[in-house]
Amino acid sequence: MSSKVKKKILGLKESSTLAINEKSKELILKGKKIYQFGFGQSPFPVPEKIVKKLKENAHRKEYLPIQGLPELRKKISNYLFERTGNNYPIENILITPGSKEAMLLIHIAFDGDIIIPAPGWVSYKPQADIGSNKVHWLETYRSNNWFPSGKDLEKKIKSIGKRKNLILILNSPNNPSGSVCDNFQELAQVAKKYGILILSDEIYTDLTFTNEYNSISKFYPESTFITGGLSKWCGAGGWRLGFLAVPKKLSEFMKSLKSLASESYSTVNTPTQYASVEAYSSNHEIYKIKVRAILKAVGNYVYSNLKSNKVLINPPQGAFYLMPEFKNKKFKNSTQLCDAILNDTGVAMLPGSDFGFNPKKMLTRLSYTDFDGIEFFKNTSDHKTIDVKMVKRYAPNVVEGTTKLSNWAKNL
Ligand SMILES: Cc1ncc(COP(=O)(O)O)c(C=O)c1O
Repeated sequence: MSSKVKKKILGLKESSTLAINEKSKELILKGKKIYQFGFGQSPFPVPEKIVKKLKENAHRKEYLPIQGLPELRKKISNYLFERTGNNYPIENILITPGSKEAMLLIHIAFDGDIIIPAPGWVSYKPQADIGSNKVHWLETYRSNNWFPSGKDLEKKIKSIGKRKNLILILNSPNNPSGSVCDNFQELAQVAKKYGILILSDEIYTDLTFTNEYNSISKFYPESTFITGGLSKWCGAGGWRLGFLAVPKKLSEFMKSLKSLASESYSTVNTPTQYASVEAYSSNHEIYKIKVRAILKAVGNYVYSNLKSNKVLINPPQGAFYLMPEFKNKKFKNSTQLCDAILNDTGVAMLPGSDFGFNPKKMLTRLSYTDFDGIEFFKNTSDHKTIDVKMVKRYAPNVVEGTTKLSNWAKNL
């Protein structure tokens, strides 16, 4: 019997994060200790002031405008102006249930092809598939900090053919590499030369360890969409609050995106939008500095204790990921490698193939958030004094998992 589900939808596989969680659960049931290095969730508490606003607004039940609460859009417009120097007016801001939905709407509306640097987040390609947009992977290298060079991008654009509409997706700090892009200007020049659009996924940009907010929109504002939200810097992934900023020149997109929003989720839940006004009203700098300092200390701990002649790895620069590469010929692909590591050590990670890499590359994504962020945060009074002792005390699973992984790699 032929399937009643569309072929392209049947082709979508279950997210690999879920698959690794299933495997981990099975092992936990068998009594094995698992180190959750496969999960990409902020462990920190949502700032108290923002939670308070959510409570105060819980009684609100009316639908808000499709595009979102004007006051919230104004705050986001200011937030982007302060960080990027660009004016994304409130008419060009759309509030979405998570930035993931914002990106999906772009894929549905956009008529063209998508360039995704590998490594790229697991959902970019499936979303492009849902939107029937062809994907062109753009390989990147450790030596270039896992971002494409201007030349790489130009070569890719030429190979696709000049006449196509193109969107390049950029994500910095990057999931899965934990790297920060340092060549936005060069990429912007090439993008401009060929008139391609940029989707700048800035969900982790507030978690840049140098405390700088860098965005390609500083160099190419006229054609850069920005997505962001509360999920990562503010620890509120489950609140589902994201946004999309559309450049003035591309305002025609907003009309279509609004129609798509109105025919799907209608608008984001009302209490969260009111609470988010608080999230974007002040810069919550003390909170962010502490969060970044903890992540940087934990990330550096993993990096320094894992790096060896068997494990190649670049230093952490933002977000909460590292991307180790295991020097090895024993395993056929990175999924087999991750399975073996999980079975032998209890460390759960995701294979590099989930992020667009050739499966033969022995790359994995390691998330170093398996610790009680509430405790760590509470006990961090001074962000300058987070030393190894504190990492050991408040992130014992990360420390233990790193030791297991590092010992395992010695036998490769
Ligand atoms: C790179 C990247 N972009 C976007 C998202 C989506 O975040 P949200 O939909 O929660 O805003 C995530 C979440 O894991 C991510 O890792």
